[in-house]
Amino acid sequence: MKKDGLTIVDNRTDETYEVPFHKGTIRAMDLRKIKTGPDDFGLMTYDPAFMNTASCHSAITYIDGDKGILRYRGYPIEQLAEHCTFLEVAYLLLEGELPNQAQLKTWIDNITHHTMLHESTKHFLEGFRYDAHPMAMFISTVAALATNYPEARHVHDAETRRLQIYRLIGKVPTIAAYTYRHGLGFPYVYPDNDLGYSENFLNMLWKMAEAKYQANPVLARALDILFILHADHEQNCSANVMRSVGSSQADPFVATAAAAAALSGPLHGGANEEVLKMIDEIGSKDRVPAYIEGIKAGKGKLMGFGHRVYKNYDPRARIIKETAERVFEITGKNPKLDIALELERIALEDEYFIKRKLYPNVDFYSGIIYQAMGFNPDMFTVLFAIPRTAGWLAQWEEMVSDPEQKIARPRQIYTGHEERKVVPMAEREAK
Ligand code: CMC
Repeated sequence: MKKDGLTIVDNRTDETYEVPFHKGTIRAMDLRKIKTGPDDFGLMTYDPAFMNTASCHSAITYIDGDKGILRYRGYPIEQLAEHCTFLEVAYLLLEGELPNQAQLKTWIDNITHHTMLHESTKHFLEGFRYDAHPMAMFISTVAALATNYPEARHVHDAETRRLQIYRLIGKVPTIAAYTYRHGLGFPYVYPDNDLGYSENFLNMLWKMAEAKYQANPVLARALDILFILHADHEQNCSANVMRSVGSSQADPFVATAAAAAALSGPLHGGANEEVLKMIDEIGSKDRVPAYIEGIKAGKGKLMGFGHRVYKNYDPRARIIKETAERVFEITGKNPKLDIALELERIALEDEYFIKRKLYPNVDFYSGIIYQAMGFNPDMFTVLFAIPRTAGWLAQWEEMVSDPEQKIARPRQIYTGHEERKVVPMAEREAK
């Protein structure tokens, strides 16, 4: 009869071990019993960059990278982008279900109640240099929120956690808008709680002397869709940081700041800024083939292409492309779109990219829309961080409530010296 699990023979000892399957995996701790003797630590796995390691159970986001499927709590991203607002989706990520009308109203009231920043946070922001990168200001200011809300450290209290979740989702657009206006030297605009989440963000960015800011509804909806697309993406680099920092029971403000720091890197959320720099460097459509040849020859990466999980078209990139058309009807076409389309066309026909299953990812087209809306490239990753805060918090909440989770603490394969003696300074030779 077929057995369920692995039978492992250790050739060093000729011992046989039975290792059961656990939901399509094996538990790494089950390997620890494989030893050469009582003093042996036991077998570990080696998996730099978590290429093949599940670090948690999660019921939030599902990705099938081969088929190009993305679902939040079971709902396809395409349907959520078509029918929902960002705040509905944030509720879905955190609560597990889409809200009904009454639940949504309470949720929006709770978030909106927390959009304002303490004046000390405003003064804190004023301390940054005029040319500080918005993402660096965003990360630091989110961390600084911990100074205003010391009770956030009580991470085992569900009610306290919930309050910090409202605060973070409510305040990240305000922080983001302030980082933008700081760079321009414009006065900060306080939140307008009559407006929806994305409209209020546009209000805090663009309002000048008018009494009431009126967002263009097409642009506000496009931003809301972009927020939905960026809200969560299961165990990516920044979600893993959120869980890892959160696992030490650090408060959610510093954990979110750490996750945002992970997002800022050019291989993660920082890629959207890099895509625009790359398009500027290419300069015109006719120079695309030579640029691609350079990439194939090892001169850097095609930014906005490739993904650890997607080995098919990123479904978010497809929706962004459609959204771009609606935005360009208002703003006029971003001339960089032609270069991007040419890059995509040539790359998707090229053996190098086909063989490696490299397709445009979410960052490839998002920057082109953001730029058409009036953002500078250094704001792009901040625009990613606003909605992803909801995803990070959902991941954090799930981690804190999971009885199997402990402090994240990987093992290592030590490759350094054996024990040696410290040589006194006078006796050390010059290297
Ligand atoms: N351009 C050219 N070659 C690439 C690219 C690219 N963008 N991405 C991967 N490759 C090559 C890579 O050199 C390797 O080739 P070889 O097998 O000959 O050594 C092969 O494809 C496999 O790549 P990998 O680096 O092992 O893949 P990974 O899963 O470790 O990296 C990635 C995933 C997203 C970091 C990578 O594709 C990349 O650096 N892309 C550009 C940056 C980017 O767009 N990042 C945004 C990702 S999506 C949004 C997000 O996560 O925030």
